Order: sequence, then structure tokens, then C-alpha cells
Amino acid sequence: MQQTAYCGRVSAYRANQHDTMAKEKTVFACNACGGTSPKWLGKCPHCDAWNTLIETRANSDAPAKNRFTALAQSSAVAILSDIQASEVDRTATGQDELDRVLGGGLVQGVVVLIGGDPGIGKSTLLLQALDSLQRAGQKTLYVTGEESGAQVAMRAQRLGLTASQVSVLPEIQLETILATLEVQKPHVAVIDSIQTVYSEALTSAPGSVAQVRECAAHLTRAAKASGTAMVLVGHVTKEGALAGPRVLEHMVDTVLYFEGDTHSQFRLVRAIKNRFGAVNEIGVFAMTEKGLKGVSNPSAIFLSQHAEPVPGSCVMVTLEGSRPLLVEIQALVDTSGPSPRRLSVGLDRDRLAMLLAILHRHAGVACMDQDVFVNAVGGVRISEPAADLAVMLAITSSLRGKALPKGFFAFGELGLAGEVRPAPRGQERLREAAKLGFSVAVVPRANAPKKPIDGLTIHAVDRVDEAMEVVRNLG
Ligand code: TYD
Ligand code: MG
Repeated sequence: MQQTAYCGRVSAYRANQHDTMAKEKTVFACNACGGTSPKWLGKCPHCDAWNTLIETRANSDAPAKNRFTALAQSSAVAILSDIQASEVDRTATGQDELDRVLGGGLVQGVVVLIGGDPGIGKSTLLLQALDSLQRAGQKTLYVTGEESGAQVAMRAQRLGLTASQVSVLPEIQLETILATLEVQKPHVAVIDSIQTVYSEALTSAPGSVAQVRECAAHLTRAAKASGTAMVLVGHVTKEGALAGPRVLEHMVDTVLYFEGDTHSQFRLVRAIKNRFGAVNEIGVFAMTEKGLKGVSNPSAIFLSQHAEPVPGSCVMVTLEGSRPLLVEIQALVDTSGPSPRRLSVGLDRDRLAMLLAILHRHAGVACMDQDVFVNAVGGVRISEPAADLAVMLAITSSLRGKALPKGFFAFGELGLAGEVRPAPRGQERLREAAKLGFSVAVVPRANAPKKPIDGLTIHAVDRVDEAMEVVRNLG
């Protein structure tokens, strides 16, 4: 009985959709100048740019310019200070580490985009989160475009989510998804993934820029109108950026990235943008036999466990959101062929080239005829310049074949003039390392604590050559 009512509403919605769509026609808009053309052309007829025309929908009976003037009265203009700032209600997802990156949980009507390499655990994490939300009394919907219902069920079984009450919709057509959202009215919906969804109104293939943009815009609008918290799963390109238009990132409220090496057990979820919380906060998970488990005290997971110190390795303390993390930086410097290579994993390659130049000019260490490889252990990505000193010390350690002392760590930014600049919140970094048993540090002068820290010998330095001198004297 209920089934019939459900179908009736869906087709009514569809009829309605087709009605509105009839008034809309497809045009091709130029990404560069905004001009339009009724058919696809390689070159924009307005600005002569190549390959900029993208299929979009246009309303054919576009309104006369001042047709809406009368409507101006209908929306209230308010003075900012008169508007009540209200705390938003957050619903915890049941995954503490995910809640941490979201800023405390999901907010009504929020649209979250979550990206990451294939197989990193996006679907796993979201299915686990939906199940806990459902158990907490929230209505949930999992729209799967990549896997069949049976595959999702198999995953749920593996995760031990037997008797899960999460609703699953295997569907890729936007209009059907929108209609189902309207009928089901879930509190939380997951679209896995936005690249598989397509709209009937456009002729381009699913996953194309036009389709992704159009579908995300409709889903965002639906989330805002209904208050459903919507999580869109996005693919990433080979370069690690979210596939599809950049505009996707502007459209949504929160952008999360899954990081980490699929071969290692640990995964990081980082907030790149968050309208409802802090950015750069990270959640740390471990992939286990039974899905992703939050790691609440992750500071030591990115250290490889050497019994004795080895050349080419230096530990640094990085700050990820509100938590300090100890990360091992590894470098390998090796005799090269005619064109030396500079490669980095988890660190910025341009910055590596700059550090090598600083090292040459200000510390007299040349790597011109050497290949230089650097790596942040465990698949973590470090973007802060405070890694500079550790990268440089790892490189010189590898070059000389001499290990840094046991219990050694360093952090600090290097300037082009050879100065060592302070890192933000240095005290926290030092205390975390001391807590984990590290005993010797080279840090920027401004980060040296006023009171000594128990068990920690700190060498404060101002310049690169000074840091090198300290390390040489340490043995
Ligand atoms: P998946 O969540 O499907 O990744 P994505 O949606 O980001 O492509 O990836 C899960 C990977 O993790 C897959 O390679 C299998 C593995 N896995 C586990 O190790 N334990 C588990 O309990 C599950 C469900 C998956
Ligand atoms: Mg998946």
C-alpha cells in the first residue's frame, strides 16, 4: 500500500520536473567570458578562447530585467546587529574523529564534500557513520551509484552492522534521487558518489564538469530546502585534487579530504573548508578488519620504529589542527646521473628545491650532483613550513651517512636569507615530544621555552649554519 503511494509521488514529482524542464533549454556557456552559444563550438564566438564552452541549462523565457522589482519588498532586510546569532544544533555521527573534523557533528542542511583516493575508506566510513546515526534515531539514506545494494550489504556484514536499518537506494539518476529525498525526508543522506550521478536534462556523460556541477547544485538546493544533512562523495584526480569543477568546493559548506597511504593502516581526514568549524583539523583512523576505528591519541603513529637511529631520518613535531603530531621525515641523497632528481612524498617539492638552495648558499652543503628524495612517513601530508629544519637535517644526515642522535627532533621554518624562523605554538610541540620520551631538540630561538622542560635539552638557533654546527657537535 505504502509502496503504491510512494511510486505515485515519485511520478508526480517527475511530471512536475519535466514541466519545468520543458521551459529550459540547453545552451553552452563560456567559462572565460560568460557568453553563450546555442551549440557546442571549439572556440568561443565572443572571446575567441578555446575549449571553454560548457553545457548548461538556461531558462528560455528569461525574465525582463525589472520584472522582480515588486518582489523586493517581500524579503526582509535586517541590520546585522539586530540579527540573533544562534548556536547551531549538531548531531554527533557516532564517530568521534569524524565529529572532530566536522566541528562537533552534522548541522541541519549542511552539505559536506568528502574526497579521497579510491579504496581509502570513504564508503566504509560513511556507512559506519550512517549506521550509528540511524541507531541514534536519525533517519538516514545511502544513495549508491558505484556499488549495487548487494555489495553495500556485503560491506555492512563485514563491518558487523547486522540488522542495520539504514535505507539504501542504488540509483544514479538525479531526478529520481531528488524525488526519493523529497518523499523519504531523511535527516542525513549520503550520495556515493557525485561523479556517478547524472541529470536527464543534460546530454553530457556522468562525471563531466557540466553534470557534476548541475547535480551538485540541485542536491545542495534540496539539502538547504529540506534541512537534510547531505554528504557528497567526490573522486580525486591523479594530482590529488577533487575531480570536477572547483566550483563544487565553493558550493558546499564543508570539504573533507581523506589522506594517507592505502598500504598503511592509518588514514587522516582533514577539513579543508568548514563553514561550521575549524579548518585543518584532522581526524585519525586506523583501517581494521572491522572498518575504520578512530585513533584518539595519534601523536606517535607516524614514527617508524628503528631500534637504533639511522642516517637520513629526522623527527619533527607538526601541528594538525589542535593536535601536535610527531612525524618522521626521511631523506635519501644518492649520486645521480646527468640530471639530478628532486622528489618528495608528503612534502612540497618546490619547497624542497628552495631548501637545497638555502643549504648550499648558507651552510655550504652542495647536492648539485645528487638525487634527493624526501618522504613524510605514513602517508601524512605536511604543508607547514615548520618542517623545513627537519627536512634539511634529514638531507644532510643522509648525505654524510651519519645518523642524528637518539631522541632527537627539530622544527622551524627556514628563510631565504638563511635565518631560522619560529613555528606557531612551539611550547605545545616541545611538550608533546618530551611526553613521548624525546630528549634533544634544535628549535628556532623564539620557540625556546623560558623555563626548562623536564628531560629535554633544547638548542635554540638563529641561523641554518648554527643548526648544522649544533648537530655536528652532538656527535
Ligand atoms: P572503500 O571504503 O570502498 O573505499 P572508497 O569508498 O574510498 O573507494 O575501501 C575500503 C578498503 O578498505 C578496501 O580496500 C577494503 C578495506 N577494508 C578493510 O580493510 N576493512 C573493512 O572492514 C572494510 C569494509 C574495508
Ligand atoms: Mg566507495
